[in-house]
Amino acid sequence: MVKKDKKFNVVAAIKNEKVVGGIIFTRKKPDFVYIDLIGVSPEFWGKGIGTKLIKNIKKFFPKTKKLALVVRRANLPAILFYEKLGFEITDFTQPGYSRTHFVGMENKPTTIQA
Ligand SMILES: CC(C)(COP(=O)(O)OP(=O)(O)OC[C@H]1O[C@@H](n2cnc3c(N)ncnc32)[C@H](O)[C@@H]1OP(=O)(O)O)[C@@H](O)C(=O)NCCC(=O)NCCS
Repeated sequence: MVKKDKKFNVVAAIKNEKVVGGIIFTRKKPDFVYIDLIGVSPEFWGKGIGTKLIKNIKKFFPKTKKLALVVRRANLPAILFYEKLGFEITDFTQPGYSRTHFVGMENKPTTIQA
């Protein structure tokens, strides 16, 4: 199931007709996509769904080279997930996210290409 509007792109992961995960992302520039949110139902963690949701971005926006996001510093599992996918911690930030509690991450050019 896919819903697109002017700003947000919403993609859901569906198993047996149930939503088990989803991602929201925004194209900021022709080659730059910001990941607003990603989540997978806990009973489906570790099955590759989060990875697929991120890689799927390239199907929507094939010109994507840069991916970026902001994540809670305390969310170590998510940080490890993004690092596994080739993201690294950078000084990327977004309005409204304090650097005290949040950290920016971007994909390394040599690793994941969306
Ligand atoms: C982060 C999240 C989206 C990952 O989804 P997922 O479908 O479980 O991820 P995948 O199965 O694709 O995992 C890919 C790799 O990421 C790493 N990873 C995933 N979850 C991890 C965890 N809890 N701890 C450490 N590494 C983890 C692993 O290296 C994994 O590869 P492996 O299974 O071969 O070891 C999911 O845990 C989640 O929804 N968390 C709660 C919401 C959240 O924190 N969202 C991100 C902030 S907005």
